[in-house]
Amino acid sequence: MPRPEVQAPPEIFYNESEARKYTTSSRIIEIQSRITERALELLALPNDGVPKLLLDIGCGSGLSGETLTEQGHHWIGYDISKSMLDVAQEREAEGDLLLADMGQGLGLRPGVIDGAISISAVQWLCNADKSCHNPRLRLKAFFGSLYRCLARGARAVLQFYADNVKQSEMIVTAAMRAGFAGGVVVDWPHSSKAKKSYLVLTCGPASLNSSLPKGKGQDGAMCSDDDESDDGSGDEDEAQTVGIYERNRPKKRQKTKKNGKGKSWLLNKKEQMRRRGREVPADTKYTGRKRKSYF
Ligand SMILES: C[S@@+](CC[C@H](N)C(=O)[O-])C[C@H]1O[C@@H](n2cnc3c(N)ncnc32)[C@H](O)[C@@H]1O
Repeated sequence: MPRPEVQAPPEIFYNESEARKYTTSSRIIEIQSRITERALELLALPNDGVPKLLLDIGCGSGLSGETLTEQGHHWIGYDISKSMLDVAQEREAEGDLLLADMGQGLGLRPGVIDGAISISAVQWLCNADKSCHNPRLRLKAFFGSLYRCLARGARAVLQFYADNVKQSEMIVTAAMRAGFAGGVVVDWPHSSKAKKSYLVLTCGPASLNSSLPKGKGQDGAMCSDDDESDDGSGDEDEAQTVGIYERNRPKKRQKTKKNGKGKSWLLNKKEQMRRRGREVPADTKYTGRKRKSYF
């Protein structure tokens, strides 16, 4: 069976009948709840008994949200498929549901969210379903807005099915560029069916709670319930915990214009003007320095 992501855009693939089929499959219900429990474990929320405000990105019909509710949290669910959200409403999901495309950003106030999960959804951003879609820009909009809305030190755990290593790298690079620390935790790397990849991200300086947990079954043990992925396909990215993505918002490169009008060009030009007898301001350490955009 080809992966859902290559069959149709999500809002088309998850139509009314697919949304119902998805939500009534006991196998899918079981897998979604197990992955969500693991995502919550990796989220490592403070054990203070205070309910948290979480995001469920690509919440679908609310299967993953149900686990969040069971654990006493409030949640906001984003999904692009109206049919999935209709089913979530019918099932009386407790979260606030938003019909929205995560590739356009989450549009929330900065620092208001305590944590985020996403189960089997982020890989959809690697596809260009419309001529105006650029996967890199959509990933950038998504991770940038996710970083902004999370409280400092909060985590996001995104379980995803990458089609290949390139997709996996694209997702992780976009998260890193947004400023997150973290990496990929892979559970059951030696099991083709039970293997699951979780992008575990921390918002804020690397010192803030950003050490990467170990994946399950790294020692070669096999998962007792060797289930398939919830969309009927395997996960093909790397087979171990990869923690190379320490927070490092890349420093903005000093732009040198293509026509070479940098500092030395400016100094030359001023010298020329002086030779022509024109009044030119004295050279200082600020001469030719790029101004910040808010000037
Ligand atoms: C495999 S389902 C997972 C559903 C959910 N986690 C659950 O437990 O029911 C993936 C979901 O991601 C959603 N999705 C895909 N691309 C999306 C996007 N760009 N924005 C928001 N949701 C998206 C799909 O509509 C679908 O409901």
